[in-house]
Parts: sequence; structure tokens; C-alpha cells
Amino acid sequence: ENSGRLIIVAYRLPFKIVRENDQVQLFQNSGGLVSAVLSLVNEQEDSMFKSDDKIQWIGFSENTREELEGQSLANDSFQAHPVFINDDVNENYYEGFCNNLLWPLCHYFPSLARFDDAYFEAYQIANKLFFEKLDEVIQPGDVVWVQDYQLMLLPEMIRQKYPDNKIGFFFHIPFPSFELFRMLPVKWRKALVDGMLGADVVGFHTNDYVEYFLKAARLVSGYGNKLHYINMSNRIVKVDSFPISIDFGKFNNSYNDPEVALARSEARESLKEKIIFSVDRLDYSKGILHRLNGFKRFLEQYPEWHERVSFVMVVVPSRDTIEQYQNMKMDIDQTVGAINANFGNIYWQPIIYQYRSMSYSELVGMYTASDVALITPVRDGMNLVCKEYVASRQDVKGILILSEMAGAAAELGEALIINPLDNQGIADAIEEAFKMPEKEQIKRMTAMRERIRDYDVFAWTNDFFTQMIMLEQEHERLK
Ligand code: UDP
Ligand code: G6P
Repeated sequence: ENSGRLIIVAYRLPFKIVRENDQVQLFQNSGGLVSAVLSLVNEQEDSMFKSDDKIQWIGFSENTREELEGQSLANDSFQAHPVFINDDVNENYYEGFCNNLLWPLCHYFPSLARFDDAYFEAYQIANKLFFEKLDEVIQPGDVVWVQDYQLMLLPEMIRQKYPDNKIGFFFHIPFPSFELFRMLPVKWRKALVDGMLGADVVGFHTNDYVEYFLKAARLVSGYGNKLHYINMSNRIVKVDSFPISIDFGKFNNSYNDPEVALARSEARESLKEKIIFSVDRLDYSKGILHRLNGFKRFLEQYPEWHERVSFVMVVVPSRDTIEQYQNMKMDIDQTVGAINANFGNIYWQPIIYQYRSMSYSELVGMYTASDVALITPVRDGMNLVCKEYVASRQDVKGILILSEMAGAAAELGEALIINPLDNQGIADAIEEAFKMPEKEQIKRMTAMRERIRDYDVFAWTNDFFTQMIMLEQEHERLK
């Protein structure tokens, strides 16, 4: 057990803060990271942190300072520390450097990346604001875990003032090959790499991302490595892959939940014989248009399935103040409209498209009602939706069609693996899925379920923190 507390620093807080009549209500996110860190603090004797301390969480506040004045921002598990960023800075930081530059570049869309000095300046200012908040909160012995591409400069800022605290950093999106990373101005590249290397352990989802980062560290800052250990004269940094996972038990055990069962039976009653399902944030990295083109090809080539298939496509609104996302929305609307108009009739709408978020029971209801989950990102750090689909299938049925460009493809080889740019490949995979014998479905699903059950999100956090502890022993050994 660690003597200090756990401090998470992430762009998003662990709950939504809703103000009503001068009071705030906190709605805890159900996302992977929140469940993951909760598992580190529990009653069990072997838990990593003391259970009487809440997890401290530093994140951006969507509310103003005045709105939160005097309010308690804690629930049973988390104490939130909001970071206030003024609109001008946040625009250049969040919309600008993070989502108009880092996101497209790391997802291999260099043509969408915009380079602006004001972006980088705002990125530095914002990272500093997170640091200042942390500076108020941190105590000796606390372990700090910094998350994702919005906060790449932060580990080094912490290291300089707090050389003795343990610091972890996790990068949740693809770290790109050097040919893309080098598109950043030299000064920015170096700041990002050195910033991350302020941590003791730097984690990525796959070995490829680790290799790309190690190459960047060598070419940008001159740090070589030995078996993923970088020697920084006075300390060592471990760079490794830790594929993030999900709470397998939660999804698996939801199958017979009454609300889930109701959502499932309603979907089956109102939809056609075969159901295809997809859900993702509206994002150009998710390959939504490629998916639609693949489905269109399927309808063209396999007319025997007309009027027998419903494709339920849920697109969750995301980053809708950014132009590229708005354009994407228009393209999707148009493409869905064209497919439904060309193939549908008064008895049959091939695509049932919804632009909204889903409740947990609707989501698991659809996961378990569908014959096929069609997941086609052109680039995705991991992709949790496919893991949730597999975990939800307590009935061991259903077929996963998965893009080879998702980090998760490295772990889910029993899926029908497709290339999202290959329309014909998608069309053929759908047809193959519809014809797949139940025995084959069960065989594939069983293998994937066992793998995710064995490496769930709790194993993920446990692995990451075990590396932090082992690194300390390594330091002792080298002293
Ligand atoms: N999800 C959500 N709201 C919804 C539908 C899904 O928050 O309306 C969740 C989904 O269950 C999954 C996450 O959003 O846990 C998406 O994670 P993923 O890694 O697939 O993609 P990301 O959005 O992080 O790029
Ligand atoms: C991805 C990123 C997260 C981000 C999330 C939602 O999962 O890795 O860091 O929080 O998308 O995007 P948003 O811009 O709404 O925070």
C-alpha cells in the first residue's frame, strides 16, 4: 500500500457538474478511466492506496469560478479540483493545439492539422494552469497520474518542482510514426517529448506506439533506451505498452438486467431479421463514412438481404464547435439520406441513424440485440466499444467486424478483421457474418471474451502501478 494519495490529472473531471437553484449535483462518468482508478482504492488489503483517502482529481471546469464558489465538489470516491481556463485560452488550447493539431496528426490526418503559434502558446499556458492547481493539492508521497494528449507538458513541470513524487503518464491516442511527428516545429516536438519524459512510467496502448515514441525520444532529444528503459542521468524512465481495457464483469453481468433485457427485446421486435450496430463519437478518425460506403456496397452486391437487415448507427455528438467535425456531420447526414433514399421503401429503412448519446442500458441492449457490431475506425488508439460489445455477449453469440487500424485489433484476432478503406472487404465481411454458423460464432466469441476477462481494466491499472513500484526497486539497485 502506498503511503500517499492518488492524484489524477486529466482534461475531463470524473463527474458532470450540474447547477440547480444555487446547488450543484455531481453525475459520475461511467467511462473506463473512472472505473479503472476506482479499483485502485478499495477496502481490500492489497489495494494500492489507502481507502480512507478520496482520489484527488484535477480537471478542466466547464463552470465558472463564481458558479462553483463555496460548493462541495466531492462524492464518496473523488475530490475534484477544477481548473478554470478563460475562453480565449481554451479555444486555442482545446480546440486549437489539442484538437486541430495533435488529434489529427496522431490519427494520421496531417491534411487536417493546423499550425498556429497561438495554439502552442495556449497549450503551454493551459498545462501551467493544471500545474498550478496541482501545486495547491500535492503532498509528499502522493502519486500523480497524468492522462492523455491534452497534458503532455505537465509531467516535466511536476518533476522540476517535486523530484521525489511518483509520476505516471498515459497516452490514450496513437503515438504517430516519426514521419508524422516531425511535422511539428522542432521546438514543439522537443517540448512534448521532454514533457512526457518527466514521468517515471510512460504508457501507451500498443507496442507500435511505444516504438514510435522511443524513436522520437532518440531523434528529438537524443535519449537512447535499453529494453524500454531510458536513463536520464539522475533517474530512469520506463516506456511500455498497457492496452487499456474495460470492466468486463459489469458488461457481462448486465445481460439479464431488466432494463437491458427490455431494450434488447424492443430492438429485436421493431427491427429486421439481421441487426448491425455501431456507436461512436462523431469523429473523422472513426471511419463512419467508410462504414456507410461498405454497407452501401453490401446492399448493391447482396440484394438477397434487402428488407431483411437494419443497420442501427448511433453517432454521439462531440467537439461540435470545431469546423472539421461540423463538416463531417453534414457528410454523414447526406450519405445516410442517399443510401436510405436509394435502397429503402415504405416497409424498410436500411439505416436507422441517430445523432445523440445513449444511456447504459440502451447501449448494452443494442450490443446484445445485434447480430453484428461494425467497427471501422481509420485510426483509433484502442477502441473500447468493441471490447464492450464482446464483454456484453454473455450469450456468446454475435460477430465483431473490426478495423485493423484500431489498437484493439492486436488483441481481438478472432474478429472479422477488415481494412476500413476497402468497401468490398466490408461488404464481404457483413455477408460472411450473416452466414456464419452459430458454432463458429461461439468459438470466436469465447476466445475474445476470455482474453478480455483476463485482462480487464483492473488488470490494466494494476500493471501500470506495478511498473511504477518495480521502477523504484530498479532505482535502489542502481544507487
Ligand atoms: N459511450 C458514451 N456515450 C454514448 C455511447 C457510448 O460515453 O452515448 C462510451 C462507450 O461505452 C465507450 C466510450 O464512450 O466506453 C467510447 O470509447 P472508445 O475508446 O471506443 O472511443 P473514444 O470516444 O474514446 O475515442
Ligand atoms: C478520447 C480522448 C480523451 C477525450 C475523449 C472525449 O477518448 O482520448 O482524452 O476526453 O476522446 O473527447 P473530448 O474532446 O470530449 O474530451
